[in-house]
Amino acid sequence: MSYPRIVILTGAGISAESGVPTFRGPDGLWEGHRVEDVATPEAFRRNPALVQAFYDARRARLAEVRPNAAHLALGRLDREWPGDLLIVTQNVDDLHERGGARRLLHMHGELLSAWCTACDARHRWTGPLAGFPPCPACSARALRPDIVWFGEMPYGMDRILDALAACDLFVAIGTSGQVYPAAGFVETARAAGARTLELNLDPSAMSERFHERRLGPAGTLVPALVDELLARAPA
Ligand code: OAD
Repeated sequence: MSYPRIVILTGAGISAESGVPTFRGPDGLWEGHRVEDVATPEAFRRNPALVQAFYDARRARLAEVRPNAAHLALGRLDREWPGDLLIVTQNVDDLHERGGARRLLHMHGELLSAWCTACDARHRWTGPLAGFPPCPACSARALRPDIVWFGEMPYGMDRILDALAACDLFVAIGTSGQVYPAAGFVETARAAGARTLELNLDPSAMSERFHERRLGPAGTLVPALVDELLARAPA
């Protein structure tokens, strides 16, 4: 069977083999921090220096990691797939872009973007924000990581929901299914009549909701899936 319209959701698991740590490790901490100490607007108000330093370290680390076979396979799918495709990532790294993906939406923001809360401008940002540098547009020292924190609205929801409502195949890759609204996308896709497939190292919180589950590392499972899809691409 062929699936002309595909939506793919990715999570931290797809970047794990590149050496980017996932969020929910066995100790429940995210690189030594409780998520609520670094990934909420309240945390930023309470301790902006800590939050900036945390994201500065993650941004700096991007220079040391590379896309893995799973990112490269999705890049190939994007180049070669003749039908509709939307890759929605919860990841804030740039490994999908570097893997060649273009039909891509960062629903939780991007490490390489800084957002000025004074003038609302967004700037590509590769350096640190910890020193509270001035906004290149308005000079206010009001730049924050352009990351969607807990309690904030993810980006691109209209476009994502439209794509889910119209898709024939929904694939979730390397996500634990614990953070909404992304965790609910499988239900939206099912309601639209799509086939649903999960690729993950371990069963996720949403595994039972998928028509099919494949367990294993993304670096192996994703290239195999892309081969399968391209072999049955719509004319
Ligand atoms: P999690 O850390 O919650 O889950 C990562 C998932 O990837 C787990 O289910 C692992 O089993 C799986 N996994 C690990 N290594 C893998 C591999 N090599 N191949 C395939 N799967 C693997 O990460 P997310 O689900 O992405 O939000 O977390 C969702 C959101 O929670 C994040 O975007 C972030 C966080 O709070 C914000 O920052 C707003």
